[in-house]
Amino acid sequence: MNLTVFGIGYVGLVQAAVLAEVGHDVLCVDIDAGRVDRLNQGLIPIYEPGLESLVRENHAAGRLKFTTDTAAAVKHGQILMSAVGTPPTEDGSADLQYVLAVSQSIGREMDEPKIIVSKSTVPVGTCDKIRTRIADVLRQRGREDLEFDVVSNPEFLKEGSAVVDCMKPDRIIVGTNSEATEALMRELYAPFSRNREKMIVMDVRSAEFTKYAANCLLATKISFMNEMSGLAERLGADIEEVRKGIGSDPRIGYDFIYPGIGYGGSCFPKDIRAMIQTAESISFDAKMLKAVDERNNAQKSILFDKVHRYFKGDLKGKVFALWGLAFKPNTDDMREAPSRTLMEALWKAGASVQAFDPEAMQECQSIYGQRDDLLLCGTKEAALRAADALLIVTEWKSFRAPSFDLMRDALTTPVIFDGRNLYDPKVIARHGLEYHSIGRQA
Ligand code: UGA
Repeated sequence: MNLTVFGIGYVGLVQAAVLAEVGHDVLCVDIDAGRVDRLNQGLIPIYEPGLESLVRENHAAGRLKFTTDTAAAVKHGQILMSAVGTPPTEDGSADLQYVLAVSQSIGREMDEPKIIVSKSTVPVGTCDKIRTRIADVLRQRGREDLEFDVVSNPEFLKEGSAVVDCMKPDRIIVGTNSEATEALMRELYAPFSRNREKMIVMDVRSAEFTKYAANCLLATKISFMNEMSGLAERLGADIEEVRKGIGSDPRIGYDFIYPGIGYGGSCFPKDIRAMIQTAESISFDAKMLKAVDERNNAQKSILFDKVHRYFKGDLKGKVFALWGLAFKPNTDDMREAPSRTLMEALWKAGASVQAFDPEAMQECQSIYGQRDDLLLCGTKEAALRAADALLIVTEWKSFRAPSFDLMRDALTTPVIFDGRNLYDPKVIARHGLEYHSIGRQA
């Protein structure tokens, strides 16, 4: 099947590569000519396990192509998939300018029937706006005769496991009221439903809503656990024991109940705020979502608060080793990362940071540039050298079993502040290190 993907960001590129891998003929279009050029040379703009080889192989096989030519892109696909960004505006609502620009191009260029698939995370009602925009442009062209349909098909991939998530989706949500469109979408996604039917078909608005509801519930689980961890710490309980205790109930489950230093990334913070904003726009008081957001903002400061208390407010001139910059492991993404809140608070207090991350060093460099109070170190061990304490921010696998003796000897003050509960406090104590983690006794 011929397919066009608009927007070669995370969602667009991964989805395009996966759909090419199962045999579809995919043309990707983006306004960023540099990005298109690099992709045509096999250079991948993001770090994502398995993506590079997938893109290269399918590009070489001629099933995956990249262009800036919108007219050619609209012509190519029977299905036109929009995966452009929906960044937050000043008030937290989703900015639809890119989504509507794509709709405008489609309306301008199409000269045969098309199915438009909305992949981006967009507020309920956006598919209607896309439909109206395309219809307006067709009317201006005097081509009301051209048929088209707009489908909501939100994406549920996670950064760091995006390729696997797309290859083996839990579900494929398709929002459409048309049987013909449904049949075409079944054909597109048939390779992913070989063992079990993955497609859940519903009306357009419910599909749009499903994406937000899923992210809001996942963020709620995290904020709930973070709140419990604050209570556990003060009540003499260990949140890690509590986590196992409650996770064993299948109604609760073990997933997404890891306490930490707040959720980050390009999705949860933005989507929760967008949902709050949507609620406000219809005078609905989204009490729970506001609390989830509030707890998360507070949680992002929790490691700094612990450090501040420990050093009795005197952080001026102190040097902190920081392990982990990315908002989570297996990505170089630092959008809304807790590491940023922490580093910025430390700098404000006059401290400096020696940081290491297995993938996000370049990203950190491009965000903060050269500064005297930030040293980007080549290894996690180098970051420890003569530091006043170690702060752990991201749970990379390579941080899980370090040499605690080396750690103790390298640090000026042998103390760890762990925002991800990576270690057993008893083991740390045996190595003569002091340990402060989340929701457990010091
Ligand atoms: C999230 C969702 O998990 C995806 O299903 C969704 O498709 C995606 O957003 C999106 O809307 O595009 P992602 O942001 O890539 O995916 O990352 P997650 O693995 O969900 O982690 C989000 C944040 O929650 C991270 O900061 C992570 O550290 C934190 N987290 C996660 C916890 O603090 N505790 C947990 O138990 C799980």
